[in-house]
Amino acid sequence: MSSTLEPQGVKTVATCPLSIEINGHPRQLEVYPWTTLLDLLREQLHLTGTKKGCDHGQCGACTVLLNGKRINSCLTLAVMHDGASLTTVEGLAKDDELHPMQAAFVKHDAFQCGYCTPGQLCSAVGMTAEGRANTPDELREQMSGNLCRCGAYPNIVAAIEEAMPATREQLARNSKGEGQ
Ligand code: FES
Ligand code: FES
Repeated sequence: MSSTLEPQGVKTVATCPLSIEINGHPRQLEVYPWTTLLDLLREQLHLTGTKKGCDHGQCGACTVLLNGKRINSCLTLAVMHDGASLTTVEGLAKDDELHPMQAAFVKHDAFQCGYCTPGQLCSAVGMTAEGRANTPDELREQMSGNLCRCGAYPNIVAAIEEAMPATREQLARNSKGEGQ
């Protein structure tokens, strides 16, 4: 059963108001107190780009950017993020232009089945913003929370390495208020 739905046998369960910006759009929502951020996105808002893999913080498939920081959306309750700004994989591209990280993943063929890819992309953007991956080894370490069961790691690392400078530039422009 969907965790966003009221369970059988419970007559009245209060929902909580949630004001949150998602991919640049302000949303006023009502959510159950037990709904995870991942279930809010996928089941209530039908933003299914964000994937559910393990549902307990081990695979990174559910990674999104919360106030610019990467987070496993399966591990946090939606009601905890009133007033937050959220970016999912659906919000990375602007108009018809792919995010530099997306373009690099395409160029380097950095996926096979693609199930891990939304989480890899959001995590890579968040990692770039953190600024702690200055060598290929550090990049691999910083991305180690995002698993790829297809084993596309060499191509993923190559794509991220190439896209980091352009991603840094875009993040700098965004922080100056020039839009994402
Ligand atoms: S689904 Fe969240 S970490 Fe695996
Ligand atoms: S591309 Fe299939 S799990 Fe990563």
